[in-house]
Amino acid sequence: GKIVVLMGGTSAEREVSLRSGGEVYRTLVEAGANVEAVDIRDHAIHQLTDIEFDIAFIALHGRGGEDGTIQGVLEWMNKPYTGSGVMASALAMDKWRTKMIWMAAGLPTPPAFLLSQDCNWNEISKQLEENAIVKPAREGSSIGMRRVHNADDLKASYEFACQYDGMVLAERWVQGKEFTVAIVDGEALPVIQLKTSHEFYDYDAKYQANDTQYLLPCGLAADEEALLQNIALKAFDVLGGQGWGRIDVMQDEAGQFWLLEANTSPGMTDHSLVPMAARAHGMSFTDLVTRLLQEAKL
Ligand code: DAL
Ligand code: MG
Repeated sequence: GKIVVLMGGTSAEREVSLRSGGEVYRTLVEAGANVEAVDIRDHAIHQLTDIEFDIAFIALHGRGGEDGTIQGVLEWMNKPYTGSGVMASALAMDKWRTKMIWMAAGLPTPPAFLLSQDCNWNEISKQLEENAIVKPAREGSSIGMRRVHNADDLKASYEFACQYDGMVLAERWVQGKEFTVAIVDGEALPVIQLKTSHEFYDYDAKYQANDTQYLLPCGLAADEEALLQNIALKAFDVLGGQGWGRIDVMQDEAGQFWLLEANTSPGMTDHSLVPMAARAHGMSFTDLVTRLLQEAKL
């Protein structure tokens, strides 16, 4: 059947998505598939209904593409698509509600506060031990995020994050190591450790910097890696995730893991982590794309 690769979109991660979609499209062309790439703009419904296709590869990131809305349109069109359904996509897009679900399930995630214009900056800063990270709740690729060390920074960073989303949280900073766990078809792939010279693994460290280090094998002992994979699988499962995803995690200096967030449409760029983990697992980029399409559900 005919495959469409949905890419671009209108979120702040548009450029990342064009790179992800470009890689997916290119590999499918090389594999001889019947494929068309569609740069999703403001009137997505018409763009989808005006073309003939049998299955959609969603290479969109952020709101509009990773948050259940386009998934809902595809449901109504009766077209199979890659990855999670409406509910898990919507939940995972929202870092605050993801945290609520993980806490309810007894999974470890750093304490956080939802911020608002009239909150008590001093009190929240104190509760977070003057060491936090401020994040737009529904954004990706670290866009709009800043580290903070006092109440004034907290307020300024809240205002900065508000440019990206009306919902903003401050999460206690976890000092330690950063890991990511790719999940494909119910299986956790080899864990990757990220090392950056930046204050945190920010947009530039993710897509531009040449000094970001990807440790694969990740440096954890085998039993620790298995434990982390298990936590990640549970974290994905309680959100209702399907098909594939990526769970981002910190490990503090005492060895405790802390879940940061779930991505239901992870990056597929040449700097991205799921393709890297897949390769270490003996799965080429083409194998990965093919497998995700095979798992696509109606
Ligand atoms: N949000 C980016 C695309 C990622 O998680 O890879
Ligand atoms: Mg993300």
